This record gives sequence, C-alpha cells and structure tokens, in this order.
Amino acid sequence: TQNINLAVVPGDGIGPEVVGEGLKVLDAALTDTKVSSSEFDLGARRWHATGETLPDSTLDELRTHDAILLGAVGDPGVPSGVLERGLLLKLRFAFDHYVNLRPSRIFPGVTTPLADPGEVDFVVVREGTEGPYVGNGGALRVDTPHEIANEVSVNTAFGVERVVRDAFRRAQARPRRHLTYIHKHNVLVHAGHLWRRTVERVAAEYPQVDVEYLHVDAATMFLVTDPSRFDVVVTDNLFGDIVTDLAAAISGGIGLAASGSVNPDRTAPSMFEPVHGSAPDIAGTGTADPTATVLSVALLLEHLGHTDEARRVTEAVASDLAERGDAPRRTSEIGDAIAARVRS
Ligand code: NAD
Ligand code: IPM
Ligand code: MN
Repeated sequence: TQNINLAVVPGDGIGPEVVGEGLKVLDAALTDTKVSSSEFDLGARRWHATGETLPDSTLDELRTHDAILLGAVGDPGVPSGVLERGLLLKLRFAFDHYVNLRPSRIFPGVTTPLADPGEVDFVVVREGTEGPYVGNGGALRVDTPHEIANEVSVNTAFGVERVVRDAFRRAQARPRRHLTYIHKHNVLVHAGHLWRRTVERVAAEYPQVDVEYLHVDAATMFLVTDPSRFDVVVTDNLFGDIVTDLAAAISGGIGLAASGSVNPDRTAPSMFEPVHGSAPDIAGTGTADPTATVLSVALLLEHLGHTDEARRVTEAVASDLAERGDAPRRTSEIGDAIAARVRS
C-alpha cells in the first residue's frame, strides 16, 4: 500500500506507443497501491526544440522517483549517438545501473526460429557502466586516409567485482545454480584476465554454483545450437548488448525482450525498458509489440517489492502469448488483452 512515484520517459519512435500499454498494465496490476507518474519530455522532439538531451536539472528531478519506465530513444533525424549517449547512457551511468538485467524465456506458444530449442529460461546480467560504453576514446586525423579511431574498454576491479557478485547471488538463488561468464580472454587479455580472476575469486564463495566460461564467439553459437545450457550469464557491456539481441531473437523476437537497468544498491532509481529501440521503420503504424515493455513493467514491480503483482503480469503475458495465434494484433489490442487478463 505504499505509493509508487514513477518517472516515465516515453522517448522516440515506438517508445510512446509501447509505454502507453505498459502503463495500462501497471494500472491493472496495482489495486491497493497508487501510482503517481510524471512524464518527461526527452528525446528527439526536445533536442530539436532546445538542443538539450538530458539537462542536469532533469536528472535531479528523475532522481527523486522510485523507478523510471523508459520506451526507447534514437531518431533518424538526430545524428546517431546524440540521444543514445546523451540521454540513455547518461541515465545508466548517472544512476549507476551496473546490472543490466535481461531475462530470456521461450514462453509456450511462441514461435522461435529454432527447431528444437529445449527448455529456455536464462537471464543475462550485462555490466552496465563500463566497457567501451564509457566514451574513453578519440580520433586523430579524422576523415583522412590516416585516421585513427579508438574506443577504449574500461574495466575496473570494482566494477567487475560488483556485477560478478550480483550474478553469483542470482545463480545461487536459482534451481540450476549455473553461471556462464562470457568474454574473449584469448585475445582481450587485459580485461579478460581481470574478469577471469574476479570470477574465480568470487566463485570460491559459492561452491554450489557451477561455473562455465565461454568465449563470446562460441557463446553466440551455443545460443543458437544449445540455448538450454544457459541459466545465469554474466558479461561485459558490449558483449552483453550483442548477446541479448541474439537471445531475444531465439526466444520469440525483440518485441518480447524485457530489461531492467538496475542499481542494486538503491542509491538511485532503477530504470525499466524494453531491449529494443525506437523502431523508426514501424513507428506510427500502431503495430509495435508492447509485450517487451509489459514484461519490463513486471521487472519494475518485482524490483519495488510488488512480487505478487509482478507474477500476475508475467502470467498474463504467458497466457496471452499461449493464445495469441497468428492473426496480427495492434499495439493497443495486445495491451488491452494483457490488462484484461491481469484484472481477471
Ligand atoms: P530496433 O530495436 O529499434 O529495431 C530493430 C528491428 O526490430 C526493426 O525492424 C524494428 O521494427 C523491430 N522492432 C523493434 N521493436 C519492436 C517491437 N516492439 N515490435 C515489433 N518490432 C519491433 O533497433 P535499430 O533499428 O537498430 O535502432 C533504431 C534506433 O533505436 C536507433 O536510433 C538506435 O540507436 C535506437 N536504439 C535504442 C534503444 C533503447 O532506447 N534502449 C535500443 C536499441 C536501439
Ligand atoms: C540497448 C541499446 C543501447 C545499448 C544503445 C541504444 C545505447 O542497444 O539498450 O540494448 O547499446 O545499450
Ligand atoms: Mn542493444
């Protein structure tokens, strides 16, 4: 019965369309709890109008909320990177979202491109505040035949250890207690060996967790040929970005893939967002699948301690998917159908 003070960042493209459905389902799920949501106008429109991506004053306002629901950012009319870095990554870094949580599950009834995937239910713990994403790079002699462009991957002992610990805690709490860590330590020896030593050291505290290492190239292969081997996966920011789009594709498509940009220490609000982007190719057509956002709302509820409500939302999605059939449905029809199941 504690109220939720929610910040909503619909963003660009299909962002506002899917967020609308997510809010519908959130409203259906919460009976005793009141949600007061404040919408933040951030993204392409704001940038065109004012040149701003995420002013510090807005960041301060966002900080006062219990959680953030974000649609998507990025627009073909804005230079690539301006909104992605200036808004989305700025939020993840400023609020220390070091656990980028991305569950993958093949729900019954869902069409997957794999012929015989087996039981697929794993979660990727993607590091969210380091790696090549920090913007530690630069270019020399730009636009000449001798251009040199560097993006340096930053990996700190502190940053690697905290995300690895989070992954071990999650693995320990799951029935299979299996952890795969993914890197490329045969080539990226500096960062790779920091990850390896860290995993080995923390593993000694979790004797019940079975640890496996995969090079990222092999991991992409196993995601297609043997996805049921995975339980908890931990990896760096860029590898995690790539493997989670692949994970989405094998488990029913990007329209179903949810994520949480989580600050486990709760020193700032966590942010819940579909894995997909603003999908300019289908924006405005009313055909985006809002399920990824709805499942992100379930992660939000779980994070805020509304465990029963989170389960109700996930079960409503599961039964909707089981009975969805092949007839195309509009964004709002899917949201309405899931909200109705949550209420029933
Ligand atoms: P995208 O995820 O937006 O789209 C990839 C493909 O998936 C497109 O064909 C799109 O129509 C489809 N798709 C995505 N979401 C869907 C949904 N809910 N239902 C049905 N189909 C869906 O990725 P992209 O095309 O590489 O990027 C487009 C823009 O989004 C870029 O500006 C990119 O930087 C940005 N982006 C933002 C985020 C984010 O905000 N978290 C994530 C990824 C990409
Ligand atoms: C995602 C997106 C972002 C990322 C981009 C838009 C910055 O691809 O959320 O997966 O790379 O993390
Ligand atoms: Mn991505």
